Amino acid sequence: LQCIYMEAIILVGGLGTRLRPLTHTIPKPLLPLANVPMVERMVKNLPEIFDTAILAVNYGLNEMETYFDGRDIGKRIVIVPEDEPLGTGGAMRNCFDYITGTTAVFNGDVVSSINLEKMLKQHVKTGAKGTLALWEVDDPSRFGVVELKNGQITQFQEKPEKGTELSNLINAGTYLLEPEILEMIPSGKKISIEREIYPKVAGNGLYGFPFEGYFIDSGTPESYLEANFKSLGKNGTAAHKGASIRGNALIHESAKLKDCIIGSDAIIGPGVEMEKCVIRKSVILSNVSGYGSVVEECIIGPDVSFENDLTRSLISPKGAISF
Ligand code: GTP
Repeated sequence: LQCIYMEAIILVGGLGTRLRPLTHTIPKPLLPLANVPMVERMVKNLPEIFDTAILAVNYGLNEMETYFDGRDIGKRIVIVPEDEPLGTGGAMRNCFDYITGTTAVFNGDVVSSINLEKMLKQHVKTGAKGTLALWEVDDPSRFGVVELKNGQITQFQEKPEKGTELSNLINAGTYLLEPEILEMIPSGKKISIEREIYPKVAGNGLYGFPFEGYFIDSGTPESYLEANFKSLGKNGTAAHKGASIRGNALIHESAKLKDCIIGSDAIIGPGVEMEKCVIRKSVILSNVSGYGSVVEECIIGPDVSFENDLTRSLISPKGAISF
């Protein structure tokens, strides 16, 4: 009996500028979604056939190595560093020595309902060189847009001018690629696969896999909150000492709360201590302390203290922004 395993490359090297100043202290892939780091969640969600997750890292290398050192999350983790940020294509190419065949590639900040096994079946059946997950949006101008004909991607446009978009189908940041596509990427150079490689393969073995459900690029404060609530799903905390829970909420078991109302849509991280607070539609990261405040649509922490009402704010140890 022959067992075939596959590798998944997760692109986790970006600067996460849209989540600054939070990402000054925690690299985006290690930011938690419902109390589990984004990248760990992605690795755990991989279908069983993927036994190895290759993390393409530039910014945040030390933090990532420290986090995964000695931690068993059920798959082999290979961390592949880049001395210089190589862009999405260059980063994939940099992982080439670790792949053995058809490879899945993920943008590390995507949270979606995609069925990777179904996508893989289609990829094999069509004999594609590459299959791109596609998501339909009303305004595609900020994204990579494709023209899809009989399942094949015939044209690829990266962030087209408004009015010139080929369709409403956008690149959802999840790919299945044959090694020959990775071989097209020059090694050791900064290359965007979206701008420099996909347009060349369009019409020549590049297929689309439209899917429905949800798709969140969790890279902005609003979408990071949304991704948290999606990841929380229905697995909230039923009861917690010192908290009255409204709707769906998740409270880490180590949090110490007194006279608090939590929810709906609220996630309280480890080591948090709060008294007389109302927390709604917010994410409170580790070791935050709070007193006497109503907090709505906020991202707070880690290690931050607050004592006043807050809305639509991101507060980190390195500063705060409103959004
Ligand atoms: P912003 O700075 O807020 O746009 O976030 P970002 O740095 O994550 O950029 P973007 O969201 O466009 O990147 C998409 C995905 O590719 C993310 O998962 C990034 O981590 C990853 N990525 C972008 N550039 C690089 C790179 O040069 N090297 C590696 N390894 N990954 C990258």
